[in-house]
Amino acid sequence: MEIRYPRAFLLPLTVVFFIFFFIPQFTYASEKEYVRQPPGCIIFTKHGRSESEPQQVHVSLAGSDYMRVTWVTDDHEAPSTVEYGMSPGQYNAVARGENTSYTFFFYSSGKIHHVKIGPLKPGTTYYYRCGSCGPEFSFKTPPSTFPIEFVVVGDLGQTEWTKSTLAHVESKDYDVFLLPGDLSYADFQQPLWDSFGRLVEPTASRRPWMVNEGNHEIEMIPIIYPHGFKAYNARWLMPYEESGSESNLYYSFDVAGGSIHIIMLGSYTEFDSDSAQYKWLKQDLAKIDRKMTPWVIVLLHAPWYNTNTAHQGEGESMRKAMEELLYGARVDIVFAGHVHAYERFTRIYNNKADSCGPVYVTIGDGGNREGLAMSYKNPRSPLSMFREASFGHGRLRVLNHTHVHWSWHRNNETDSLIADEVWLDSLSASSTCMGQQPSSLRDEL
Ligand SMILES: [Fe+2]
Repeated sequence: MEIRYPRAFLLPLTVVFFIFFFIPQFTYASEKEYVRQPPGCIIFTKHGRSESEPQQVHVSLAGSDYMRVTWVTDDHEAPSTVEYGMSPGQYNAVARGENTSYTFFFYSSGKIHHVKIGPLKPGTTYYYRCGSCGPEFSFKTPPSTFPIEFVVVGDLGQTEWTKSTLAHVESKDYDVFLLPGDLSYADFQQPLWDSFGRLVEPTASRRPWMVNEGNHEIEMIPIIYPHGFKAYNARWLMPYEESGSESNLYYSFDVAGGSIHIIMLGSYTEFDSDSAQYKWLKQDLAKIDRKMTPWVIVLLHAPWYNTNTAHQGEGESMRKAMEELLYGARVDIVFAGHVHAYERFTRIYNNKADSCGPVYVTIGDGGNREGLAMSYKNPRSPLSMFREASFGHGRLRVLNHTHVHWSWHRNNETDSLIADEVWLDSLSASSTCMGQQPSSLRDEL
């Protein structure tokens, strides 16, 4: 039977349909279908200084009260010295260091200088010059007490989005830059390592950059370069010797006078229970006194927990090998990269919510040329608290012994919006978690 509506009802019916069906659909779509940024173009940053002048200057923490200054010169006769002091142009100290270089097929690197300087005062600005020529740079050492702020950015690359991310990072002060892998995306094209060094110099010469390796650092070629990491290890020397590690691919360091212990793990070197990395990690965790060091943070590249469809399961064998150690040590937060998106999980152990496990965060959205990982598994796991595929960076502000504030800043054209934030308590303050450390693990640790 055909239903006929009187003509007078047609207009009200259309209005009702619009209000109850079309408007909610439109609102829902505009919230859910946030316009994703397309991949940015690669930026090649040219060398604008003379052969003997320093380029690609960056600094990193190198043991208690020391910093390492790293730079490159085309001139292989340039000295590996750093002059430094607490006033501009007045250098009352000088340090000598080491240098290296490498070849990769027809490419020959410049002279890569590494000079350790110190002892330095905490929370202090130092002015420095590399190799007695070129421009003056300055950095600020991290404070020896709380509060302290970390910037966390993974999978940085060298595109327009990288530039945008770094501009947002620079727009607000912080103390230490943490990068959980995938730096230059040079991918065997060695001049792109130089270009990356020049792109990040304004940021990396001002605050310590602590990095670890991602898959784009491997650059392995069977038989010719069977061990990989040739450029990464030569250019981004991290304090592995200072932390008792045998490899630049995993190490640890303390900040805030030893109140925060940060462990950089290697996703692309051996991690099984008979590996050197596993044994080193166990010893490193055993040295931590949680009364003196209320915060323990881990960074690695391939995430152990991930609801994005990209890189599913790639961190699983490492999780199976090492998760128990981190859980037993009551690690507070684990940051990962690799997946080009942002995701924050609840506290987890062995695929279940666990109030004594670490909070897991994926922050692989620094801005690389591969673009964003936009597809997620559905329905969403209840372990995943927030997920979004947008470029951005994170900030971890450690307020005191018990509280940190974590925020994720989404890039947009003019501002870096806080899109996700959460307060976290230190597990060291939880008598339940510290009292219930698995006895076998506690004995082991
Ligand atoms: Fe990666």
